[in-house]
Amino acid sequence: MSNKRIGILTSGGDCGGLNAAIRSIFYRAKNKYKMDVYGIRDGTAGLIKRPVDVMQLTHKTFGGYLLRQGGTFLGSTNKGNPFKIPTNDGKYVDKSKEIIQGYHSMKLDGLIIIGGDGSMQILKKLADKGKMNIVAIPKTIDNDVGATENSIGFHTAVDVATQALDNLQSTAASHRRSMILEVMGRDAGHIALNAGIAGGADVILIPEIKYSINGVIKKLNEMKKNKIQHSLIIVAEAVKKEDGSKVMHKYLDGEKRLGGIGDYIASEIMKKTEIECRVTTLGHVQRGAPPTANDRILASAFGVYAVDLLANKKFNRMVAWNNRRVVDVAIDEGIKTYRDVQRDDPLVETALSLGAYIGEIK
Ligand code: F6P
Repeated sequence: MSNKRIGILTSGGDCGGLNAAIRSIFYRAKNKYKMDVYGIRDGTAGLIKRPVDVMQLTHKTFGGYLLRQGGTFLGSTNKGNPFKIPTNDGKYVDKSKEIIQGYHSMKLDGLIIIGGDGSMQILKKLADKGKMNIVAIPKTIDNDVGATENSIGFHTAVDVATQALDNLQSTAASHRRSMILEVMGRDAGHIALNAGIAGGADVILIPEIKYSINGVIKKLNEMKKNKIQHSLIIVAEAVKKEDGSKVMHKYLDGEKRLGGIGDYIASEIMKKTEIECRVTTLGHVQRGAPPTANDRILASAFGVYAVDLLANKKFNRMVAWNNRRVVDVAIDEGIKTYRDVQRDDPLVETALSLGAYIGEIK
């Protein structure tokens, strides 16, 4: 009997721990089930190409530094939806058939997709339409997939943001400045809240809790009274201006992304006080950094479990971290259950108890 064949693809924004997950999938599939494992390049784009853009994974693939490297060596895409790809003449084309044909042309017994909620939604739709056997592993630095306590990449992003606060502290103190650190997270404030606590931020602004510039200034003035003339402010990219407007950055290719709220906060403080502010926007180093031990462990545990699901023909499932172990839930649950920071999150209380200003909390 010939070996079973499985595919792996990474989809959506990259993050630390993806290579560790691919490695773990490979070892489990080979060592326990003697499967042949194929890596699909650039997410679903690799299945659209003819011939399909894939590589067979071997022990040699993992002989180097992959476990330690950020990003995904298979490549990924976080632009667009294959059901509706924009063309140069302003129209849209549906490439779902090509992806499904590409999958079946590889004679795969199953496909493991590593992605966030957006990617899982697209892949689930493709699987339903084209009878593809899929299992999902959640990854996102935003940690907003509700059905799992942790997604791959989050811990690394928090670590990078914490290190940035550590590095900013000394220069803030040297110059008696307020250093503002803008971090990613899309609409969720998990990175800012977690790193804010770990890095001792004096002000933590997240999109889920309303703040005021006066509230921020009050905190900085209180610190001055205690003879502390420098401060650290961490702000999540989706925090809005006081008038409720979002701050976006438009790139030359037309893509718009959240970005710039740090500059707004700095200008507002400087308009109203003598405090000198400087802004650091952390950006994609949160995604490209070498994965933390925690993310490597999570990715490895997820990879093993995902292969077991495929081997046991338990399709349309997503692996999840729950109460110190890996479990599985329906992919639909992974897609539906968005989680941002709740007011009763114990970490909100922690930040408050540490004296941080975190918004207008009664
Ligand atoms: O969802 C992950 C994420 O890194 C967000 O935190 C951020 O807003 C966005 O992706 C950035 O996207 P891009 O890589 O397209 O700039």
